Parts: sequence; structure tokens; C-alpha cells
Amino acid sequence: MTCDIGVVGLGVMGGNLALNMERHGFRVAGYDLDGAKAKAFAGGAAAGKNVEVVNSPEGLMAILRRPRRVLLMVPAGPAVDSAIAHVKEHLQAGDILIDGGNSFFLDTERRSKALAAEAYHFVGAGISGGEEGALWGPSIMAGGPPEAWEALAPILRAIAAKADDGDPCVAYMGPGGAGHYVKMVHNGIEYADMQLIAETYDILSRGLGLSAGELHGVFAEWNEGELKSYLIEIAAAVFAKIDPDTGRPLVDVILDEAQQKGTGKWTSQNALDVGAPVPTIAAAVESRFMTALWQERAVASRVLHGPSPTYGGQRQPLIDAARDALYACKITSYAQGFGLLRLASAEYGYGLKPGDIARIWRAGCIIRARFLGEIMAAYRRNPEVVSLLLDESFRAAIQQRHSAWRFVVQAAIGMGIPVAAMSASLAYYDAYRSKRLPANLTQAQRDYFGAHTYRRLDKPGVFHTEW
Ligand code: 6PG
Repeated sequence: MTCDIGVVGLGVMGGNLALNMERHGFRVAGYDLDGAKAKAFAGGAAAGKNVEVVNSPEGLMAILRRPRRVLLMVPAGPAVDSAIAHVKEHLQAGDILIDGGNSFFLDTERRSKALAAEAYHFVGAGISGGEEGALWGPSIMAGGPPEAWEALAPILRAIAAKADDGDPCVAYMGPGGAGHYVKMVHNGIEYADMQLIAETYDILSRGLGLSAGELHGVFAEWNEGELKSYLIEIAAAVFAKIDPDTGRPLVDVILDEAQQKGTGKWTSQNALDVGAPVPTIAAAVESRFMTALWQERAVASRVLHGPSPTYGGQRQPLIDAARDALYACKITSYAQGFGLLRLASAEYGYGLKPGDIARIWRAGCIIRARFLGEIMAAYRRNPEVVSLLLDESFRAAIQQRHSAWRFVVQAAIGMGIPVAAMSASLAYYDAYRSKRLPANLTQAQRDYFGAHTYRRLDKPGVFHTEW
């Protein structure tokens, strides 16, 4: 049989994407270097399906229609280079390799250039949504040569998640590593969302003493309103889960150490490279590092003292204010993420379209949320808006929540509950809305100790003073 697309790497993600494509009427060929894995897939999830599992790269190429479309679903890093080397000698000019993993965008740039030099197309596709998304509809951020995107678009549109209006959550982001770049920023925003939610949980749990059962109720209710999103939904579900071993809420027995695979860190590192302030994302990454010091923290908790973490005021007003603060933080955090995308687009020549990015993040991906529809609308109103904070609708949303936001951050500080991401969001907002910041003093000091010069408010030019 002639297959429409090949999948190399039949782990959960690769296997599920293969099944998703098959369900949409495409003939899929599958191959895995690990013969046992290929066999298990062929005899298991793919049994009886229109999926041909082969046992060699030659076998794969022989049954693919031309130009061949080969999706690599292997772990990011050296495995991608090995997989490319493994299949490359069997390719022909014009064939398309797609890397659907969480690859670092500069690796994708390097691979694109190397493969283009040999007349192969390389597409870096960020795929979000985890295992379920791969099977039932992920959000896909594709980057690479436009003609390769055209050749893939019918398949990707079919398998992508559909937003409420039926729109498939896949789009062409730009050349080279643009797709993986956008996926990286998605993950940075994912870290920020998760940290903001965790801090809100801390305030409600430690500060107000809400039980997991009560937290389930609060988050389930929040998921009916402007915070409606996958991450709020699953937080509510997590609070409801009881540990069969202890009979306690499972969340209460999980070690408080957040691990990471590095994509949030890449976002922060790259933001430093392009000079984009993303303090909420950075705070989220660093907060994960702080959680990893759980043994040190256990020791320190016995000797370092602070205020009582118990809230003395009324419960419901703080719960309501926390919801408002979370939404205001979310707006600010996304303003940072989209600000980074804007600067990076200029830096790397990606031509990113923020409205398209918001559109394809509405469904399928981990940060999917009603809120992404609001961002899409903001970019429709004004595609050139430099910051989401300047959009009239978000401006009004923050204005309404402004005092609740400060109240919550102050309450947390008063109780000694760390709110690194919430306070970073508020500081970003306050800095962004400040016509004048204290960098005049910084400049004076730089000039004082190093003759680094400064500019003046009242006349053009560059000045130095003998201090
Ligand atoms: C997605 C997720 C996915 C992965 C995260 C987890 O979009 O589907 O982002 O890519 O689950 O990268 O990242 P950490 O392990 O770093 O938390």
C-alpha cells in the first residue's frame, strides 16, 4: 500500500499521532528503531487499523508516496540528530522531515539549514497537548519552508484540535525554528500559569485553611468564568482525588518538588538574549528550583521565622480577590509572553503573527483557555498593539481587578506566603505603566564609576560628568 505519511518513533506520542492520522482517513506507515516497540504497537493499539508498521527505514521509504512526509517523534536532543542520520540516506530531494518533539529552536535552525543544503525540507513542529492531545487533537505550531507546510497542512489540519468555532488549532508560524520557538514560549507561559495557580492555592490552603475538598469547589466554580481553562479544570480534578493508600487527598501527600525538562528555562534564557522582560515566567522557573531545595527548606523552616501564615480576615472576600488577582496576573503574564514573541520575531526574522498564535492556543494545548479567545479578539481589534496591557478590553479587566490584585499580594506578603510570580506580575504591570523609572540614578552611577555616559531629558546627545 502507498502511505500518506510515515511516523518514526512509536512511543506514546508518536503512536497516538499515528492513530489520530489514521482515524482521519490517512494511511500511516510506522517505524521504530526499537523493533520490540514497533511490534508492540503493531499488535496492540494499531491492530486492525490502516497503519503499516515496517522494520527498516528502507521499508518505510518504499511505501510512502512522494514527496515523502516523515514525522519524527523522538525525544528532543541528540536522538533527533540520530533519527535524522538514520533515515536521511533513504530520502530523495524534496522529501519532508518533520520534527514533532520539544526541540530547542536553534537546533531546529541548524538542522533545517543542513537538510536544506541537501535539498530536503525540514519542518519543526511544536505539538502540545500531551498524550491525549496527540490522539484526539493537539495544537500544532509549524515552522519551516512554506512549501513543506503546504504539503503537510491537509494532514495537520485534520488531526489538530478544533476550537469551539471549528477552527483547527494549527498554523504556519514562520521559517526555520519558528514553530519550535513558539512552542518554547507556550511552555514558558505554561510554567507561569502553573506557578500562578500554585501560589493562589498556597494562599487559599495555607492562608485560609481551605481543605482539598473546598479547593475543589472553588476551582470548579472558577472554571465556569473568565479563568475557564484546562489547567484550572485539572487543578479542580486534582483536589478531588483521594489517595487509596492513606484515604487522604492525594495532593496532600505529594512531595512538593516541581521537576522540569527545561523548556521553561529555555524561554527565560532566550528572553535574556533578546532583551524581553518576562519576570513572571522567570519567577515560575526559579520557583521550581526553589521547590527542588526541599531538604534545605525543611532545615531552614525550623530556624528561620516569619509571620503567621494564617489569614485573620473574612474568607470569601479573599477567595474572590484571589480569583481576580489570578486573572490580572494571567493578563500580565501573557502580555510578557506575547511581548517576547514580538521581540523574538524581529530578532530572528520569523514574521510571527500573534493573532494566529492565540487562535491556535485556544484548544488542544496545555494552556488552552477561554482567555486565548480574548487575546485573539484583542489582536483582531488591533494587530499592531505593542502590548496586550494596552488593549482596551484587557485594560478595563485589570482596572476592575486592580485593588483586589494588590490586596492579595499584600495579604500574602503579610502572611509570609511566597508569591514570586504574582508579585513579579504586579511589578511588571507597575513598571510598564510608569512613565519614569529610577534608571536615571543607575545611569548616573554608571557614569560616575565608569564614564559610561548618559542621555538627558532636556536636550539631545550623550553626556559625561566629572562627578
Ligand atoms: C505540552 C507540554 C509538554 C510537556 C511539558 C512539561 O505542551 O504538551 O508542554 O510539552 O508536558 O513540556 O514540561 P516540564 O516537564 O518541563 O514541566
